[in-house]
Amino acid sequence: DFGQVADDLGLNLFVVGGFVRDLLLRQENFDIDLVVEGDGIAFARRCAERFACRFRSHEKFGTAVIIFEDGFKVDVASARMEYYSRPAALPTVEYASIKLDLFRRDFTINTLAIALNRGRYGELLDFFGGQRDLKDKAIRVLHNLSFVEDPTRVFRAVRFEQRLGFRIGRPTEHLLRGAVRQGFVERVGGSRLFRELELILREPDPWPAVERLASFDLLRFVHPQLKLDKTLARVFAEASRVVHWYQLLFLERPCRPWLIYFLCLTSALGREAMAEACRRLNVPPRIARLVTEGREEALAVRQRMRRWRHRKKPPAASEIYRLLHPLERDLVLFVMSLAEDERIKQWISHYFNHLAQVKCELDGDDLRQLGIPPGPVYRAILDDLLNARLDGRVTGRDEELAYVR
Ligand code: CTP
Repeated sequence: DFGQVADDLGLNLFVVGGFVRDLLLRQENFDIDLVVEGDGIAFARRCAERFACRFRSHEKFGTAVIIFEDGFKVDVASARMEYYSRPAALPTVEYASIKLDLFRRDFTINTLAIALNRGRYGELLDFFGGQRDLKDKAIRVLHNLSFVEDPTRVFRAVRFEQRLGFRIGRPTEHLLRGAVRQGFVERVGGSRLFRELELILREPDPWPAVERLASFDLLRFVHPQLKLDKTLARVFAEASRVVHWYQLLFLERPCRPWLIYFLCLTSALGREAMAEACRRLNVPPRIARLVTEGREEALAVRQRMRRWRHRKKPPAASEIYRLLHPLERDLVLFVMSLAEDERIKQWISHYFNHLAQVKCELDGDDLRQLGIPPGPVYRAILDDLLNARLDGRVTGRDEELAYVR
């Protein structure tokens, strides 16, 4: 019980932010953020002793994470006393530091806190109209400089608005547009921009948020050539269908929807523009490689499949496999999202349903036992054997042995 630990240390303890917001909205949220009036690290250390779990601290920020055996984590921050310097005797001052901590936050709906000390357990603190705005379904900043102080909040406003089905309040929208117009968003580092975009694309249905970003002229931070049009809307809608279909069927082989959406969002950009976007957004190297070189390969695969449509004979299973197998799964799903033709979708769906996991039973050891001298020929034999299996020409070990002989 965190409250008891706080009591023992004589500290005021609160659960704050998204957890309280979602609690009042009756939405699931397992991210617990605690704020301690005083030394949060000392509090976390004591919790770790008391509950026999681990903790990590960031001395510089006065923050810590409590990590339980099962991996459950709780973030702890310090609302440090030096932030206010009024005489410490008045009862309001007890609240002053948590109040200041909450005042520094982005939107009113994120400024709610619940006291956890035993004497006042469950007491809701609402200094800035958070409950009212939850009821009004409004995203509102606390003060005029909020977006200037932290322009990433522009993206957060859109994300919360769309996720919760709220509306950015009029004055807040004004401030948001002002911050964009005056170039404050340009000053945000590429990595932070990319992070915000990723968070938006990680929402279950990111399209309305993308539309909203476009309406605030925020897509140009990805790349100046990006614009919202019918094609993009269609590709996104298709991607959403593809992602949901895939996730329903292949739980054990996860894909990365946000990455597929990112590929769709940027699908109108040419090779050079995409590389530029990656540089601007400081995209991590592995992802950057996937969305540049990997994407080029995916587009080449798409071309091949489009040509297949004009053949008399449909492609053999082994042809589909050989074409799609070298591509990362998210890229295959991207190709599927781009496909206008049902046949292309069917080939890809056949690949995931029936081909992707096919293996032959024989391996190098078996070939050796058959007396075949080891060498590059093994690769060729096994590839050929796998093709035979994919195309249904052999089934089972005995047939494989016969085939190789
Ligand atoms: N915060 C902020 N400005 C930011 C980022 C965060 O003021 N640029 C504040 C918010 O008030 C938020 C808290 O820090 O409540 C924690 O941030 P985060 O974990 O990103 O927010 P959650 O509300 O928990 O969002 P999510 O539900 O997406 O986890």
